[in-house]
Amino acid sequence: MKTAVIYWSGTGNTEAMAKAAAEGANAELFAVSEFGGNVADYDAFAFGCPAMGAEVLEEEEFEPFFTDIEGSLSGKKVLLFGSYGWGDGEWMRNWYDRAKAAGAELIGDEGFIVNDAPSDDDLAKLKALAAELA
Ligand SMILES: Cc1cc2nc3c(=O)[nH]c(=O)nc-3n(C[C@H](O)[C@H](O)[C@H](O)COP(=O)(O)O)c2cc1C
Repeated sequence: MKTAVIYWSGTGNTEAMAKAAAEGANAELFAVSEFGGNVADYDAFAFGCPAMGAEVLEEEEFEPFFTDIEGSLSGKKVLLFGSYGWGDGEWMRNWYDRAKAAGAELIGDEGFIVNDAPSDDDLAKLKALAAELA
């Protein structure tokens, strides 16, 4: 089982979540700008991106990356996570539906979201969810 955690984070909240997910899933960890691998070589992914713009994925790096790879997610186990600020999680509901439409086998009935900085409890929960990718 080969698993990657791929994330974008501006102020570190989603990065802290990514580290916990990588631990839980025993996965390789990449900032999205560093990922040079081939999606086909992995069985499972955790993707992390905060709510940006107006309830969208970060548009310079993460959105183009996800657009490129979403057609290759069919049948792969996928966990989505990210931090948000003032919204109600709309960006994640849209992202979850998009990944589901791409045929990904999503972990959980929704993505794992945390308001601002994750607590130790949030990180432990995410780690446990990520373990389901393995
Ligand atoms: C440019 C910008 C746009 C944002 N847009 C939203 C938004 O639409 N909805 C929301 O809930 N939070 C929004 N936020 C807040 C971030 O999602 C929040 O600060 C999050 O914790 C950042 O995660 P990070 O530390 O991983 O970068 C925005 C923040 C920035 C800087």
